[in-house]
Amino acid sequence: MANAYEVAYKQSLEDPNGFWGKAAEDCHWYKKWDKVLDDSKKPFYRWFVGGEMNTCYNALDYHIEKGRGNQDALIYDSPVTDTIKKYTYTQLRDEVAKFAGALADQGVVKGDRVIIYMPMIPEAAIAMLACARIGAVHSVVFGGFAANELATRINDAKPKVMISASCGIEVKKVIGYKPLLDKAIEMATSKPEKCIIFQRPMEKAPMIAGRDLDWNEVVAKAKPHDCVPVKATDPLYILYTSGTTGQPKGVVRDNGGHMVALKWTMKAIYNVDAGDVYWAASDVGWVVGHSYIVYGPLFKGCTTIMFEGKPVGTPDAGVFWRIISQHKVKSLFTAPTAFRAIKREDPNADYVKKYDISCFKILFLAGERSDPDTLKWAENCLKIPVIDHYWQTETGWAICANCMGLHHYPVKYGSPTKAVPGWDVKVVNAENEEVKTGETGALVVKLPLPPGTLPTLWNNDDGYINAYLREFPGYYKTADAGFTDADGYISVMSRTDDIINVAGHRLSTGAMEEVLSDHPDVAECAVLGVEDQLKGQVPVGFLVLKAGVTKPNDQIIKEVVGMVRDRIGAVAAFKTATVVKRLPKTRSGKILRGTIQKIADNKEFKVPATIDDPTTLGEMEEALVQLGYAKARK
Ligand code: COA
Ligand code: AMP
Repeated sequence: MANAYEVAYKQSLEDPNGFWGKAAEDCHWYKKWDKVLDDSKKPFYRWFVGGEMNTCYNALDYHIEKGRGNQDALIYDSPVTDTIKKYTYTQLRDEVAKFAGALADQGVVKGDRVIIYMPMIPEAAIAMLACARIGAVHSVVFGGFAANELATRINDAKPKVMISASCGIEVKKVIGYKPLLDKAIEMATSKPEKCIIFQRPMEKAPMIAGRDLDWNEVVAKAKPHDCVPVKATDPLYILYTSGTTGQPKGVVRDNGGHMVALKWTMKAIYNVDAGDVYWAASDVGWVVGHSYIVYGPLFKGCTTIMFEGKPVGTPDAGVFWRIISQHKVKSLFTAPTAFRAIKREDPNADYVKKYDISCFKILFLAGERSDPDTLKWAENCLKIPVIDHYWQTETGWAICANCMGLHHYPVKYGSPTKAVPGWDVKVVNAENEEVKTGETGALVVKLPLPPGTLPTLWNNDDGYINAYLREFPGYYKTADAGFTDADGYISVMSRTDDIINVAGHRLSTGAMEEVLSDHPDVAECAVLGVEDQLKGQVPVGFLVLKAGVTKPNDQIIKEVVGMVRDRIGAVAAFKTATVVKRLPKTRSGKILRGTIQKIADNKEFKVPATIDDPTTLGEMEEALVQLGYAKARK
């Protein structure tokens, strides 16, 4: 007999209207949809057309009406400020309604954009939900990005209002957010009318008269605002993510499909129910934070945890277990890099033994490939299922997973298990033909994508088609390569573009190359992601200098490292570069990145037939050995 996963998977593909229509009945609608899936404007598909609802209502008010008003909705746990603060559903709704009123007082109305540049404090979630409450479109920008990246997003989203805080705290360092905000606005061509600043006690930010408003003051004056019905197809948020150039892509998320899909995933994938405590140890600046710190758990009526800290050093490698035990967390979702950090500090998992974590049932990992060693280490020390699952900013929720609320499949190390219901995943070659089982090819998803995925890019339908739909007609291109096995398990092996994954953060090496090329002494450059024990990958830059440069190499390297930090941000973790005479290239002038990468990671490689000058590979190897990456080959 087919198991619950098989039944759901089959139905989701054969009858998407029936499948997602049923899931949507679990949500509150002011007006029911006319059509579940509208495919009249292919390749643009829309979900729940004609439906009207409100995301914030479904995340908060709905549960209060169902009797959950006194249950904790959000627990802010901040070891870096020694704070634990709890909000019940009623308290969170009241704070959100007041802040929604404050936004409305600044003239923010349905469809206006609001950029949120904040650390991991409850006010970030309050700001997001307040935007949703009045139908404004939020765009959260990760705090580790530099002013220049923020400016690019301001220019694209053209926010009416920006919301920020005076500072963030990175372990023990206080990082000023407001100076970066001011610099970004100065650089941007589009200017917000107002900035609402949450002043934190560790660092008070100077305010610009006429533009900046104090969070507490605007809230004190505001009246609570009701939920504004929006169309299911209206945008809820824009989240910018790295593309293949320095220009980030504005991934759009709609309201209705997002609500239906995320609420469904909470049980089907994560196996949590209303009332359970669910923790995604990520950041609201990333898609995981949007979907599983804020929206998913609240749609479901769970208690969500907002953690301002790191897996190690705040104060120690036991902080995850302390939080799980103290707040009775049932399910934790984090990136493998966090576990590598814990494993490095506490290899025998001694901290685990100090806490009663019997409430903890499943650990979920995503954001990068879960290396089998880390996964097995987590299984051994926690004695619970450890589930790798695979998704992207664009998709908003998992493409592949072991759907723990449907059927628990045996884990195969290195594979995020099977395609989730709704996802018709195929592996194809360059001619868009399916390859044989076990053969590696491009991972693509047959259109239409399920609800909650990106309907397009912000103000850029052509960019959406070019980036995702053009190369494999009829399919969405994930830009990942992988394979399936005879049991239908999917393995995701590598990106097919220039994206690298540094400590679970998605970055473009192309964007870093654009920065390096701007150095006056650099003639040519390449940036590659090389394997790193902790962060998975780290970027390494190779510079070819212009003829006649007299400045010492060390000085130039220091300058380019500073430039990347200044223009992209600390999060790029660009700390290593080296000067080389030439870059290995094909005869047509293409840099042989794949080959350089293999040398750096000590992998077998063939000298490409198209190489212009094979001696360049030896020079590259020498440079990598000096940097401590490649081992010298005999
Ligand atoms: N605001 C400002 N700066 C930030 C920042 C933020 N929100 N987040 C990171 N940074 C800075 C850090 O301070 C660091 O700066 P430094 O070069 O001055 O030290 C730099 O960006 C790199 O940070 P990070 O990638 O976090 O590395 P780390 O060495 O500080 O910590 C880990 C390593 C593995 C502990 C950490 O990366 C981690 O917890 N990763 C999990 C990632 C995650 O949750 N991903 C989301 C997908 S699920
Ligand atoms: P992001 O958009 O930041 O979520 O990054 C998405 C990319 O991270 C994917 O395209 C993959 O390359 C990678 N990724 C995420 N989860 C996994 C996983 N479980 N296994 C392998 N790669 C993953």
